[in-house]
Formats: sequence, structure tokens, C-alpha cells
Amino acid sequence: MTDLGGFCAALYKRGIRFVQVPTTLLAQVDASVGGKTGIDFQGFKNHLGVFQEPAGVFIDPKFLATLDPRQLKSGYAEVVKHALIADAAAFREQRINSVFIDDWTDAIQHSVALKQEIVAQDPLENGPRKLLNFGHTVGHALESFLLSQPGREILHGEAVAAGMICEAWLSVQHGLLNENDLDQIETFLFSVFEKVQFVSLETEAIADYARQDKKNTGSTINCTLLESIGRGVYNQPVTVAEIAASLRYYHRL
Ligand SMILES: NC(=O)c1ccc[n+]([C@@H]2O[C@H](COP(=O)([O-])OP(=O)(O)OC[C@H]3O[C@@H](n4cnc5c(N)ncnc54)[C@H](O)[C@@H]3O)[C@@H](O)[C@H]2O)c1
Ligand SMILES: [Zn+2]
Repeated sequence: MTDLGGFCAALYKRGIRFVQVPTTLLAQVDASVGGKTGIDFQGFKNHLGVFQEPAGVFIDPKFLATLDPRQLKSGYAEVVKHALIADAAAFREQRINSVFIDDWTDAIQHSVALKQEIVAQDPLENGPRKLLNFGHTVGHALESFLLSQPGREILHGEAVAAGMICEAWLSVQHGLLNENDLDQIETFLFSVFEKVQFVSLETEAIADYARQDKKNTGSTINCTLLESIGRGVYNQPVTVAEIAASLRYYHRL
């Protein structure tokens, strides 16, 4: 909702001041930081959007008490992502506490701080901000594909969790990440998220959606991969065939 509200406020009379009060974990740790607003268009995620910072953001973890656990987990995927790209110690802590914590205050503050630090270095996403796309090349492709299939839609974070496993596997294929780290990431994500269902015949069609990704330059798909847990690396060229292979790997798990 923060994306839609911010988008409308940014367009109305060429932009009016607005504040955000995010009430989902996803919006609190991710959408509320960094000034991105947008809506889905013609079946593609966030294809219409602008950068517009709100005048203020008010985050109250108490909202989460009434949030559907499925929505809570969806937001948690971004909390895990922030740790995987920038903070190995936070990932170790998440493996101990997992999603089953009562008070989200510290986890939200820490996750927001990690994202803020990255966004501050590169507000318009020409460089380091691309780190935040980890899990999203494959994740957005899966999310968009399933959005096109009535009754099979999944939540953003569920797609990102699957995307992080695929992209961690791609990181190993590219000689960046070691197998042990991949194993830890997979085991942890599967302890929180159910496997996203698709049939192996659909992998090419899903991978094809990655071509439409806003992050591409020309025909190269620029992906964010991991060098280790806690260290992302952006602008890694991957092919559509490699993305399909990562989906096949995920499907076999
Ligand atoms: N701009 C960004 O940087 C960014 C980052 C991450 C995700 N997103 C986008 O955000 C979108 C999801 O937004 P969202 O997480 O705000 O979801 P949402 O606004 O769609 O809300 C999800 C559901 O939870 C309900 N709900 C919300 N707060 C509640 C609460 N406190 N208690 C009970 N029910 C509550 C809503 O009514 C809705 O049914 C995704 O499409 C994703 O692409 C944007
Ligand atoms: Zn996301």
C-alpha cells in the first residue's frame, strides 16, 4: 500500500508532501525506505513508478500483531535478504531466532538501518543500491509468471525467498559462493518458507520473464549474487538459460 499511496501522492498535482505509516513487515523494512513508489503494469511488477521520498515514515511494530502470518513471513524474506547481502552476523542471529519472535522492534530497526546505509550511498540505483535486488531477478520472474496464472499468485516475499535460493545457487555456479553457504541459506529459507510450486515444463517461460526486468541493460541480465553470506556483489551478467537452470535446481530440491 505504501507503493500505491506514494505513487499517487507523487503524481497528484505533480507531487504533494506525504507521510507513510507502513503496517506490514514488508512495507516497514523495505518499501518505506528509499523513496521507490510504483504499481504493476501490463502484468509486470512495478513497471510504472517514480522515486519520491515521503516527508516522514512512522513505523510501529504493534501493527504486526494483527498481520496474517503469511504476510509476516513475506516481509521477513526482505529482512533475511538485507542480512545476506550486508550482515553475516545478522543472518547467524536469524538462524537462531527465525521468524518466531515476539518483539520486532530491534529486527526492524536493524534491517531498516542496513537498507538505509545502502540507499544513502546510491539513491538512484546506479551502483551499490543494486545489491538490494538480490533474489529479485528470479523472484520477480516467478512472481510475474504466477501473476499471469489465475489462482496461482504468490506474495512478493515468497517469490523473493525462492529467488534467493536460485540466485545463491547461481553464485556457486559463478565461482563466488561456497557450497556450505548455499546449504545454510537453503536450509534456513526452507525452514521458514514453503516451496513455490511450478512444473519443470514451466521453467523456460518463467525465466523468460527475467528479460523484462527493469535492471537489464541491453540483452544482458544483470543479477546481484553473493560472494559469501553477508556480502553481495552487483552487476553480474547471467543468461536466461542460467536462470532456467537455477529454477530447475530449485524445483529438484
Ligand atoms: N517500494 C519498495 O521499495 C518496495 C519494497 C518491497 C516491496 N514492495 C512492494 O510492496 C507490495 C506489498 O505491500 P504491502 O506489504 O504493504 O502489502 P499490502 O498493502 O498489499 O497488504 C497486505 C495485506 O495485509 C493487510 N494488512 C496490512 N497491514 C495489516 C495489519 N497491520 N494487520 C492486519 N492486516 C493488515 C492488507 O489489508 C492486505 O490484505 C508488493 O507488491 C511489493 O512489490 C515495494
Ligand atoms: Zn522486494
